Amino acid sequence: MNLLVTGGAGFIGSNFIRYWLKKYNSDNLVNLDSLTYAANLASLQDVAAKFANRYSFIKANISERELIIDLIQKENIDIVVNFAAESHNSRAIINPAIFFESNVLASQQLLEACKQTNTRIHHVSTCEVYGDLELDSPDSFAEDYPYKPNTPYNASKASTDLLVNSYFKTFGLKTTISICSNNYGPFQHPEKLIPLFITNALENKPLPLYKSSQNKREWLHVEDHCRAIDLIIKKGNIGEKYNIGSAIEKSVEEISNIILKSLAKPKSLKTYVTDRPGHDKRYLLNSNKIKEKLGWQAEVKFEKGIQETIQWYIDNPQWWQTLKRKTIFQEDNWQIATNLKTSRL
Ligand SMILES: NC(=O)c1ccc[n+]([C@@H]2O[C@H](COP(=O)([O-])OP(=O)(O)OC[C@H]3O[C@@H](n4cnc5c(N)ncnc54)[C@H](O)[C@@H]3O)[C@@H](O)[C@H]2O)c1
Repeated sequence: MNLLVTGGAGFIGSNFIRYWLKKYNSDNLVNLDSLTYAANLASLQDVAAKFANRYSFIKANISERELIIDLIQKENIDIVVNFAAESHNSRAIINPAIFFESNVLASQQLLEACKQTNTRIHHVSTCEVYGDLELDSPDSFAEDYPYKPNTPYNASKASTDLLVNSYFKTFGLKTTISICSNNYGPFQHPEKLIPLFITNALENKPLPLYKSSQNKREWLHVEDHCRAIDLIIKKGNIGEKYNIGSAIEKSVEEISNIILKSLAKPKSLKTYVTDRPGHDKRYLLNSNKIKEKLGWQAEVKFEKGIQETIQWYIDNPQWWQTLKRKTIFQEDNWQIATNLKTSRL
């Protein structure tokens, strides 16, 4: 099988590429990524060396339709797996436009390239499209739950899902969509919650918790996400959507305590900052469909996965330190931006 993976220089994409090439030793894979601030080709150094005959990289944007059509034809691509997206909710408050350009408009060009070459596409989405739940709600989001996104990032992801579905319904393009809960694991950008807390604690810097630190997220190890996408690619029904969640819920407060305890750092490193506008309280996926229809279940126990992730950041300072210095996002940036109401908004 020949795969075109987009956004493969980011967190989940790079883990997926390593997973796929290790598992399927006769498959070929092209990684297409525009190398935004969130990308890091160092995440794939081992892959590029070990699988040089089956792996290649091309720097391009998913909006470059003609280039992608040529690539699909030249490399005999069987499936496109779309991870490419601007992915940091806080940044979307400062510059929403780039989220709609990169995630929605660019994806439409990618879909067009798939349509023109009759190529299947699997699109990777997020639980944030469904909106949020009360902390004590007995509900969870099944695949038929209505989309109620609350922030520009979430709205951009919801819009792209609808776009993908429209290409299936209108043009008969072979599509599948996966909707995943919050991921953690190695190679995640240090602006995201778990790596931010780990790396700040390692540097004895404050851990910025929103005042709503009891808000919960459902945490899934990236390896479990990769296995789920694999199953959907191999056995999923065309035109369908699959939720992927672990059912392991932890509040931000709990995450900070686990990390501080593991690193033997004082709780006084916790600092409380004003909530981000539109900050969702809780997401919880109902993942029965993928369990019952495709036989998937999360395998990585949270306690083990989080300790291994903490250890990975301890062992790989060269991977995150430069990235963090160059591209870290200050969590109060959005506050300044929303107060100023600049024309960039
Ligand atoms: N991280 C999570 O917890 C999570 C959970 C559910 C779904 N997702 C989704 O999974 C996907 C990957 O997430 P991630 O955490 O790895 O993100 P990431 O920010 O780490 O990586 C995104 C990658 O996409 C590339 N990119 C962005 N726009 C592009 C464009 N227009 N053309 C080509 N490349 C582009 C970036 O350079 C980067 O390498 C995203 O679509 C995200 O919405 C993430």
